[in-house]
Amino acid sequence: MQKKTKCKSKVIKTDCLADGVYSLWLEAPVIVKAAKPGQFVSLYTKDEDKLLPRPISICEIDAQKGVLRFVYRVVGKGTTEFSQLQTGDELEIMGPLGNGFPTEGKHAILVAGGIGIPPMLELAKQIAGKVTVVVGYRDYQTFLADDLAKVADEVLIATDDGSVGTKGTVIDAMNEKADVLAGADVIYACGPLPMLRGVKVYGEEKGITTYLSMEEKMACGIGACLACVCQSTEVDSHSNVKNKRVCKDGPVFLSTEIEL
Ligand code: FES
Repeated sequence: MQKKTKCKSKVIKTDCLADGVYSLWLEAPVIVKAAKPGQFVSLYTKDEDKLLPRPISICEIDAQKGVLRFVYRVVGKGTTEFSQLQTGDELEIMGPLGNGFPTEGKHAILVAGGIGIPPMLELAKQIAGKVTVVVGYRDYQTFLADDLAKVADEVLIATDDGSVGTKGTVIDAMNEKADVLAGADVIYACGPLPMLRGVKVYGEEKGITTYLSMEEKMACGIGACLACVCQSTEVDSHSNVKNKRVCKDGPVFLSTEIEL
């Protein structure tokens, strides 16, 4: 059973990386010790009307300094409150939650879109083999692309408006650069559902082991409320239905384990 901790955490640094996208470094030495790429942490707001925390995926783990980085998009009141945090502020957090990515592969392709990109930074740092990152953005605001370029062997970019890299989707970029991706033995993906569907097909057609991180809406974050279920290919042994809880059984699944 994984070890999760609920504790007070101090804000070390905050930045705005793009329109509505923020970076937050938090001091969390106990959580850092157990954290893996692809896991997430629940951040609690100060607003007592909103008892449910916001689950945010881990972007970077600095084991030496005992700090975690989160990069998130402002989508409502909770994340607006986080975007106003200042260095030295405190907030309550709980984690690490979820299963996280394995870090296997002689040549790994890391595919992500939009706010699915942050967990790929720590994953790229921890994979010992060759890493090719394929990231998709709306436009020229290619947040984290410079950080990824420092730790990956290659970064391919796709943008909806064609302002940077390939015009189109991450799958368009992967088809365009098929030579760069030849010989890859594992794919890791995180992003919106249509992108995950495309990556699942791409990986399964090419016979490459593919891990998908699901971004279902979550509530409790600890497996209790079933707000986050996705459809699994096999019947679950506890509930006897084809369901998996993204927060507890995932968020990372083998592509063959889930239906999209
Ligand atoms: Fe409650 Fe997953 S969010 S079970």
